[in-house]
Amino acid sequence: MDEADVEGDLVTTLYTEEQIQERLASLAADIERDYEGQDLLMVGVLRGAVMVMADLARHFRRHVEMDWMAISSYGSGTKSSGVVRILKDLDTDITNRHVLVVEDIIDTGLTLSWLVSNLSSRGPASVHICTLLRKPEAQRMSVDVRYVGYDIPNEFVVGYGLDYAERYRNLRSIATLAPHVYS
Ligand code: PRP
Repeated sequence: MDEADVEGDLVTTLYTEEQIQERLASLAADIERDYEGQDLLMVGVLRGAVMVMADLARHFRRHVEMDWMAISSYGSGTKSSGVVRILKDLDTDITNRHVLVVEDIIDTGLTLSWLVSNLSSRGPASVHICTLLRKPEAQRMSVDVRYVGYDIPNEFVVGYGLDYAERYRNLRSIATLAPHVYS
């Protein structure tokens, strides 16, 4: 879906499809360099990270394994409490594996903080994070992120995996959502 297909719903384009691909190619090169000679298991967090994972993985010029987790908050207040429930766990045993968590966005940091601590308790060789977007102003929990695509302002953004009420995930670009859509 292009921005023209949802004209009126969006205010500002933050990143075009081309810009996103360029940034992911650069991140993939950094990751390749850092994990040279090591096995790498990328763990995508459903559902928002699907696009990032698919494109990031295809920029690699080496083999990489992929697995997925689905996690959810308990009730509406969970995001602020940081209590998370696993809906779908990994199919892979990560003991002694180098794990790279792939996310679309880090907002408060609560989800990733919980996830890193959960994965770290399983005896991996390492756990690092790659996120396409991060909102420094929204951060409530400090998370050590090794690879960041872009730091963005604390605005409602959609596209490239990011949704509003399950819509706009398939938008090719990343854009801010017009207030009339969500108010
Ligand atoms: C988004 C994103 C992260 C989380 C980050 O997922 O993919 O998992 O929120 O927020 P936090 O830093 O405040 O914890 P969401 O819960 O919207 O689910 P989705 O991936 O299915 O859209």
